[in-house]
Amino acid sequence: MVLVRFLTLLAAVATATAFNIPPEVYKVTGLSEFEVRSLLSGTPAGLQARAATCPANDTSGGVVSGPKTPSALELLQRNAFVKRQGSKLTLLGQPFRMVGANIYWLGLDENVIPDPAYPSKTRVLEAFATVKTMLGTTVRGHTLGISVGNPLSVEPSLGVFNNAAYEAIDFAILVARIYNVKLYIPLVDNYNWYHGGKYQFIQWHGIPFSGTGADITPPDVGAFFYNTTAIVNSFKQYVTQHLNHVNQFTGIPLKDDPTILGWESGNELSAMRFGDGPAPTAWTKEIAALVKSLAPNHLFGDGSNGVFLGTDQFTNKQVDIFGDHYYPQNLTTFTTHQAAVTAAGRNYLAGEVDWKDGDLVTFFHAIAKTGTAGDFYWSLFGHDDACCNYVEHNDGFSFYYLRPNATNLYVNQGKILINHAAEMNGLAAPTKFPAVACPQWKFPRILVPPGLQL
Ligand SMILES: *[C@@H]1O[C@H](CO)[C@@H](O)[C@H](O)[C@H]1NC(C)=O
Ligand SMILES: *[C@@H]1O[C@H](CO)[C@@H](O)[C@H](O)[C@H]1NC(C)=O
Ligand SMILES: *[C@@H]1O[C@H](CO)[C@@H](O)[C@H](O)[C@H]1NC(C)=O
Ligand SMILES: *[C@@H]1O[C@H](CO)[C@@H](O)[C@H](O)[C@H]1NC(C)=O
Repeated sequence: MVLVRFLTLLAAVATATAFNIPPEVYKVTGLSEFEVRSLLSGTPAGLQARAATCPANDTSGGVVSGPKTPSALELLQRNAFVKRQGSKLTLLGQPFRMVGANIYWLGLDENVIPDPAYPSKTRVLEAFATVKTMLGTTVRGHTLGISVGNPLSVEPSLGVFNNAAYEAIDFAILVARIYNVKLYIPLVDNYNWYHGGKYQFIQWHGIPFSGTGADITPPDVGAFFYNTTAIVNSFKQYVTQHLNHVNQFTGIPLKDDPTILGWESGNELSAMRFGDGPAPTAWTKEIAALVKSLAPNHLFGDGSNGVFLGTDQFTNKQVDIFGDHYYPQNLTTFTTHQAAVTAAGRNYLAGEVDWKDGDLVTFFHAIAKTGTAGDFYWSLFGHDDACCNYVEHNDGFSFYYLRPNATNLYVNQGKILINHAAEMNGLAAPTKFPAVACPQWKFPRILVPPGLQL
């Protein structure tokens, strides 16, 4: 790794103070001045203990109190874009696998009072520390990209944008960066939930319907999202605004941020419930072209939720990622669809996997063995702001790391998830499962941008 050696050399010749760093260094490394100076300043003070009202129950495997000081390689990784080469993903030229959690509530949460509200920093820090502790590389986060129609949304009403919504979104992106975790972000939802989705755009354009979630009347009204130019244009305006937003903590526009691995056209846009099939290829092409023009370094995923063999889905050359959601896992579907996506020279993603049911070990091993496919389990929650109680979410698929349970469900299934992430990363299966401190301890200066304290 040439750049790592370069940084090590630089560190060796530099004295921490009053060393004038040539601007070329930032160009070559992609690091900010802050990051280079932090790296050169030697061993920083570590995390500072913070009192916990409700400390972790089981600390027999140790405690993760916060992020480790990044190595030169890790700093370079968090400043590098994940790239696609055929069906493979790479980071700094090395194989990269998407593996980790869905965390849909990072931008706006419905499981708290008031409902909805932005999640607290404590919760977001705990969530990313948990992903990292479980050896995840990537998080799929709906509300980092889907945020319309609520007073707390990025776009509360048509054409009106709300900068306040970005405090939570920007913070989650910063924390992902600090933990060296990449993000995969859907841009619209197929359903009508609190964070908005395609039905919000339909409503804004005066087309009548009723219902929430997936229970919409009339059932085919969702088609207007794709077939009405004014609605497509409104959605494109939203996407343009969102990708051009500049993160208030990192100073990096979302479209230029290497923390973001890619954008997904949407969540579960197959509308399978009403049998109206995947989002039209022409629409996905139009959105892919827009995203690639704004963010040429980001990957783009077809959010149809489904590989539809025998359709023109693969003619869309700007789509990097295709895949399915699994409730429960299904080896037959995976084997067939992954082979088709690989033959089409793209990357396969099991974007949501039920972590409770079926023969997960066999399924996960099949994914790992491909060397190319990725997956995210559905879905991670943690403690509340006070770190005492777990935040409950009742879709039946909420996962809680090390949460006590009469049948030991979370611990047992959690080990399967962790072993899988280890296999995906080419690591040995861990034997220790450290608790994640809540709250995380106070971070040293090296880890956070100037002006922020965590
Ligand atoms: C410790 O375990 C108890 C009993 O299961 C639970 O109520 C509590 O929330 C746990 N504490 C933490 C910090 O998770
Ligand atoms: C769009 O889809 C809706 C619902 O299926 C249909 O009623 C309408 O005629 C379509 N509009 C166009 C322009 O195709
Ligand atoms: C797996 O999916 C196939 C279709 O691809 C279906 O026929 C089969 O019933 C599914 N198996 C399970 C166990 O759900
Ligand atoms: C254990 O967790 C599962 C999944 O969330 C839940 O259905 C079950 O009720 C839990 N058991 C106990 C005793 O809490």
